[in-house]
Amino acid sequence: MNHHVTSEADMRLLGVQIARALKGGEVIELIGDVGAGKTTLTKGIAEGLGISETVQSPSFTISRVYDAPNDLRLVHYDFYRLQDAGIMADELNETIHNATTVTIIEWADIVDGVLPSDRLTISIVSPSESERIVTIAAGGDTSRRILEGLA
Ligand SMILES: Nc1ncnc2c1ncn2[C@@H]1O[C@H](COP(=O)(O)OP(=O)(O)OP(=O)(O)O)[C@@H](O)[C@H]1O
Ligand SMILES: [Mg+2]
Repeated sequence: MNHHVTSEADMRLLGVQIARALKGGEVIELIGDVGAGKTTLTKGIAEGLGISETVQSPSFTISRVYDAPNDLRLVHYDFYRLQDAGIMADELNETIHNATTVTIIEWADIVDGVLPSDRLTISIVSPSESERIVTIAAGGDTSRRILEGLA
């Protein structure tokens, strides 16, 4: 499924829409160049989950955790700076198997082996300064349900 997004606010709105279908236990992989809008989309998802805390890029801390209403939490990873997944692979593995956690991952290549096939894969390309083409694909039943929620 393709979405043409023409502003930062639009990207956040798409995140809010994605969040509507999230119940916990979902894994979302975000693919795109530096500045594509991965963290911006995550801000929208957090907003949609009812998180009022400001979402900041986890590029230096590798991960950030946000509590959401209804016992849900959002764990946001960015593995851009990581040379070796090491113990982070184990931590990620625990996180993705937690039924009350929504996991979002930027720059997931280094932990590829840990990612479940049933994940939502969101790719963002930037044809111009303010435009983004967002392609969303589902790898299994749980992630497909999120896609269907968007249709
Ligand atoms: N249509 C758009 N959608 C999303 N972001 C946009 C859009 N137009 C402009 N921008 C700008 O692009 C930037 C996206 O930055 P963001 O931190 O979300 O990227 P990122 O993909 O997470 O990058 P990184 O790989 O460095 O973490 C922001 O400065 C945002 O204002
Ligand atoms: Mg980012």
